[in-house]
Amino acid sequence: MSDLLHGLEVAKHNSKDSCWVIVSGKAYDVTDYLEKHPGGSAIILQYAGKDATSVYQPIHPAGTIEKALSADKHLGPVDPSTISTVSAPQVSRNLDKMARIPLSHCLNLDDIEKAAERIIDRASWAYFHSAADGLGALANNQNDWRKVLLRPRVMRNVRRVSMQRTMLGFKSRLPFFIAPAARAKLVHEDGELCLARGAARAGIPYCPSTYSTVPHDELAQCWTTTRGNSEYGALWFQLYIAHEKSSAIELITKARTLGYQALVITVDSPVVGKREEDERYRAELVTASGDASLLTEWSKPQESEDGPPLRGHHSSTLNWEDLGWIREAWQNAGPIALKGIQTAEDAAIAVEHGIDAIYLSNHGGRQCDDAPSGISTLLEIRKFYPDILTKAEFYLDGWVRRGADVIKALCLGAKGVALGRPFMYSVAMGDEGVMKVIQLLSEEIETTMRNMGASSLDQLNPSFVNTKRLELELPDDLNFAFNEAALKAKL
Ligand code: GLV
Repeated sequence: MSDLLHGLEVAKHNSKDSCWVIVSGKAYDVTDYLEKHPGGSAIILQYAGKDATSVYQPIHPAGTIEKALSADKHLGPVDPSTISTVSAPQVSRNLDKMARIPLSHCLNLDDIEKAAERIIDRASWAYFHSAADGLGALANNQNDWRKVLLRPRVMRNVRRVSMQRTMLGFKSRLPFFIAPAARAKLVHEDGELCLARGAARAGIPYCPSTYSTVPHDELAQCWTTTRGNSEYGALWFQLYIAHEKSSAIELITKARTLGYQALVITVDSPVVGKREEDERYRAELVTASGDASLLTEWSKPQESEDGPPLRGHHSSTLNWEDLGWIREAWQNAGPIALKGIQTAEDAAIAVEHGIDAIYLSNHGGRQCDDAPSGISTLLEIRKFYPDILTKAEFYLDGWVRRGADVIKALCLGAKGVALGRPFMYSVAMGDEGVMKVIQLLSEEIETTMRNMGASSLDQLNPSFVNTKRLELELPDDLNFAFNEAALKAKL
């Protein structure tokens, strides 16, 4: 046992000048890493000299710390009998006092959110619930659905209804998929496995995040096993382009070799948005820890190599030319979608670059404040570049909560829609929660289709919606006329 570190030795390194932490029985020197940590240095400093396993594990995919630190910072195993576990500082609601809402009482996706709120601890709630800055983009997502009215047709024999759709070339039983969202293990020990199983059982696509807390190989294996020989459903890969090109290439290669069937590249996050609910919670945590010195560390801007303060580890140099090496790494292993397109101009440029699918999204209102909703961008495209709707597939997300929302998007030309938060909340209730979301939404879609006079999704078209109110908010003109010369000038 002599070459094991003693917990007391680790405990001496408890400041920003020398900061060691223990994760899964091993000690690491994270002093130089403090300023690089995407979640800020304060959270690490609270565990300086201590065992950080309980907060580290649910958030970081296995191997994260090993990869982030050079070999000389791996200090080796710590004698388990000398590690005193410290409980994470908590600023908690009293969850025990809040009556649980049984799934059987959840009649819609808002109910799922309420049920989850009573189960999820405050830190995790803050992460999933938060949105950027003044919450303007989030409000656009929430409000815009109501600005599109449905125009039901009657007497059209809707006894049988089919909700099947082919999305990115893959058959789906329903016209929606599970959007990428990180950190499912925050709310359930099986994390993203619940989503992989749910999607495979229901025969819909699942697009796990780069930051899945279940390793991507395990997820792929679970999805494949659960799906068995069904011909429905698909497994796509959401890609954040990392700061270092070599890491991005490594990840694309991994996704391809693991059999992920499409690449969904997020393009709206050169930096992670300023999500105040999340940041406020972390500030409260620091106060609760009683170490006032951490407060001054709290919001210090950090410089990164390629310019802006480091909020997350995404490339802030990403541009259209990068599609070249991304495609090379992906080797045509399936369709490529760009997620996070927020204007008609960018949709047109993407189509010009031969992108297979455009995923309209303001990232759940978590990135650029006051950005338009996906449904509004879809309408903007209809107004300015209607031709491109036939040149790529269009998807969108943004507060899809009702079957009617899905129908509206499809009427306006979306192939399908995606849902993020409702599924993350449902994970708190395990596999049953995930299936409940799928069941509730599919029942609403089916009922809405019948009441609209549509027996298959292919029958839906713009004549089924009145978009006048939302159109009032569209720009009169775009910044530049889209033609070859203008495109080149903009690149
Ligand atoms: C990650 O994609 C996030 O929005 O937190």
